[in-house]
Amino acid sequence: MADGPDSRPTGTAPALAPRPPDPFTLVIFGASGDLTWRKVIPSIYDLWRDGHLPVDFAVVGYARTPMTDESWRERLRDGVSRFSRAAADEKAWSAFASRLTYVSGRYDDPADFRALAERLDRGAADGRLPPNRLFYLATPPGAFADVVRSLDGSGLGRAGDGGAPWARVIIEKPFGHSLDDAWALTDLVRRTFAEGQIFRIDHYLGKETVQNLLVLRFANSIFDPLWNQKYIDHVQVTVAEKEGVGTRGAYYDASGALRDMVQNHMMHLVSLVAMEPPVSLNPDAIRDEKVKVLQALRPIPADCAVDRVVRARYEAGTVGGESVRGYREEEGVPDDSRTETFVALKLFIDNWRWAGVPFYLRTGKRMPARITEIGVHFKALPQVLFGAPPYGPLRPNVLAIRIQPNDGITMRFQVKVPGPAIRLEPYQMDFGYAEAFREGSPDAYERLILDAALGDQTRFTRSDEVEAAWAFVQPILDGCRDCDAQCLMTYPAGTWGPETADRLIRDDGRDWMLVRRRQR
Ligand code: BG6
Repeated sequence: MADGPDSRPTGTAPALAPRPPDPFTLVIFGASGDLTWRKVIPSIYDLWRDGHLPVDFAVVGYARTPMTDESWRERLRDGVSRFSRAAADEKAWSAFASRLTYVSGRYDDPADFRALAERLDRGAADGRLPPNRLFYLATPPGAFADVVRSLDGSGLGRAGDGGAPWARVIIEKPFGHSLDDAWALTDLVRRTFAEGQIFRIDHYLGKETVQNLLVLRFANSIFDPLWNQKYIDHVQVTVAEKEGVGTRGAYYDASGALRDMVQNHMMHLVSLVAMEPPVSLNPDAIRDEKVKVLQALRPIPADCAVDRVVRARYEAGTVGGESVRGYREEEGVPDDSRTETFVALKLFIDNWRWAGVPFYLRTGKRMPARITEIGVHFKALPQVLFGAPPYGPLRPNVLAIRIQPNDGITMRFQVKVPGPAIRLEPYQMDFGYAEAFREGSPDAYERLILDAALGDQTRFTRSDEVEAAWAFVQPILDGCRDCDAQCLMTYPAGTWGPETADRLIRDDGRDWMLVRRRQR
């Protein structure tokens, strides 16, 4: 942690991977869609520009929309120029684009998949399409099962003897729509792919500061002795977005904040903050410890969900000085929608380390700012000396882990204000990635796609993690499903959610708090 120029790290960020992956063909299902255009291809382009991909690699896009190679490339070029880190200059783009080809077909049609398989096999035989295959399911979630069945039916899912050539599958979130659905999907995918071939992607796990949680906790002796119920009063996790649902209204309305954010992104944050030290950095050792946290979550039974979980929907308001419409007025959202765009809840982890420590979670769209932050709030000191009047009571120490934006870590502590009298003020030490390291962080999708190509599952969700997260969220969904309209609150866009979310924490004598990192 550094506050002056002398102690700033001078190194640059480490290379993304120790070696490039084997030659491979990336086959993207949902190739005409938004995710491919906005995230997958710009990330692949950046990886390629930075020399992280093997010389032999190719991309085959597959989707229902009829398109030629050329029209697909044109669309992707637009995405790359908007979203990639490196500008798409003409020469680099042409070299990259020559690796991209497009196939149109249905997701549930055996004949279309046979044609795809033949095309991939021909390409492998003549050396254009490396035989190792990474299948990326970037379709709407409703098509996952069809694609997996078709991969199975066409033989594409089967890897060669001994896993060479290999076949792997990346599956986007949400993995299932409910606990039962997640089980059914796991069962289906496992009929074709072994767990070691399945990469359930959650882009939060590719974020630099999320990866840094393990380093912060297990490479620093100062935090380890304090990281438990003896010294920590409570933990807050805020994932706030300024944006509304944009053009994703129809998808979002069938999902809501509990499924879209809590069941996946927020459960990962909680498990990384709360897990025990893994026995090694081996992917399964880490995931074993994460899943134990989820299994220790105290259930919120369905009949208590309405009282213990605050759900709300944004109404028209002002965000960043701009008037915005309410959720029910968004494109694709029904007028009588009862989907939540905000959730706040309190959870407990019933194990030795965290017994009695509340974790307060809140997430919402159309909040006043885009902030993802984990606040670890330490216990207050005895109310004597400085803790007592006239100096105290004092605000306890807080360690704030800022995931985005301005990712970094801030520690708040008390200092004496210079002068003859004793006056105390909270001050903060800031560590910011952008100021500390010259090299920018790669996008989370770059990190994760490269990991999948390398076969490293550390930052992907294992099936038991998915199930444990669903097991916690499902009773809440069940409890909220049948509640009358009154249990879904509203909040004006541009605010921090409904008053009940404040009461949730205030009734325990605490407040929501975000630590503002100082800007240099
Ligand atoms: C996605 C959700 O997984 O994460 C979106 O489906 C959400 O609704 C997004 O906006 C947030 O990601 P980030 O990286 O912007 O915090």
